[in-house]
Amino acid sequence: MGPGPINADPRVLRAMSAQLLGQYDPAMTSYMTETMGFYRDVFKTSNEQTLLIDGTSRAGIEAALVSMIEPGDRVLVPIFGRFGHLLREIAERCGAEVHVIEREWGTVFTPEEIERAIRTTRPKILAVVHGDTSTTMAQPLDELGAICNEYDVIFYTDVTASLAGNTFEADAWGLDAVTAGLQKCLAGPSGSAPATFSPRAVDLINSRKSIEAGIRSADDEVTSSPIRSNYFDLAMIFDYWGPKRLNHHTEATTMLYGARECARLLVDEGIDSAVERHRMHGGAMHEGLRGLGLSVFGDESHRMNNVTAVYIPETVSGDAVRAELLDDFGIEIGTSFGPLHGKVWRIGTMGYNARKDTVLTTLSALEQVLRRAGAAPTAGGGVGAAYDFYADEARDAAAADAEAEADLDAAGAALAAGVPA
Ligand SMILES: Cc1ncc(COP(=O)(O)O)c(C=O)c1O
Repeated sequence: MGPGPINADPRVLRAMSAQLLGQYDPAMTSYMTETMGFYRDVFKTSNEQTLLIDGTSRAGIEAALVSMIEPGDRVLVPIFGRFGHLLREIAERCGAEVHVIEREWGTVFTPEEIERAIRTTRPKILAVVHGDTSTTMAQPLDELGAICNEYDVIFYTDVTASLAGNTFEADAWGLDAVTAGLQKCLAGPSGSAPATFSPRAVDLINSRKSIEAGIRSADDEVTSSPIRSNYFDLAMIFDYWGPKRLNHHTEATTMLYGARECARLLVDEGIDSAVERHRMHGGAMHEGLRGLGLSVFGDESHRMNNVTAVYIPETVSGDAVRAELLDDFGIEIGTSFGPLHGKVWRIGTMGYNARKDTVLTTLSALEQVLRRAGAAPTAGGGVGAAYDFYADEARDAAAADAEAEADLDAAGAALAAGVPA
């Protein structure tokens, strides 16, 4: 129940125990094509170039940035937590001239603040984290696409921690490049980075295409500014996943099985339903923690659905409580980084663990461990508040169902009476 990785869905684990296939086996290439389709649904995009990058989420970030940044390019990175610093670090290593704006941890930027920075720095790329796991805040992105469009800026985001647990719409929000990971709301292991690239990003990346010697054909162009990584050269990786089936790396077969199953699970459930599940169980955890008498960290109106940061009571040792939860109950909750280290725990409700039983068990165990550590949590307050939250949710859902049914009945009656609805 930490900020990820979390327990994988058993269906994902089962898929990952299947026998290996070579990457040109027709079954394997059809899995690759199918996986691209599933992730188009997950990212809410029609981008042709929607694929997996082998490696953890950081591999996805590096592949996107190294393939789009040419040394000397200006990149703007709004930083509101640890993973914004990571984007800056990677962009700098790609040779970018990086400009940053920073926000206190626990807050996010307004679109106006980002637009102002774009106006003054005129970057080629805006690179911003969607959900920064280190602070549990979700940066609103829905207005940034139009701003990037106006200033001709390539818009990249890292959705490792937020995808499938929070509303995200790659195309409707005007994203050019998006990268993720499996180990949070996607209910899989780390090791594969789903990613998607708009036609504009693809044109930029393909303008730097340089197919390696040995597999290059006579009519393949050789550019003067090749992408500065071979492994993360997206121009070659696009051709590897596309009809050309260019020979690049040996696909990580088992990870592909896992990533495909993560997406299949989400498509079966419905992406909006998965987000709603995270909202509900994250909300119950949030209320339960407050019901125990704990205080939640950060700007409440920009909280991610799937992870809550909560202040550690001053009288207890955060690490000792975490150790006892793990030793006695088998429940892991997260520590935190940088300015929040030692101040907050991060408690996740994500992927396979975004469930009522995990929420109630965690709250119940935390109450006992806190009391043994000398704190005075409200007796029964955590589980009680979560139960109340679930009851309110059930009441709201029943009222919405009744309203929808009444609308349907009224439309049926109007139709029978020959009145246009
Ligand atoms: C928002 C975000 N970005 C990037 C990463 C890095 O991911 P990985 O450890 O899979 O490389 C993480 C990991 O927690 C993350 O939360």
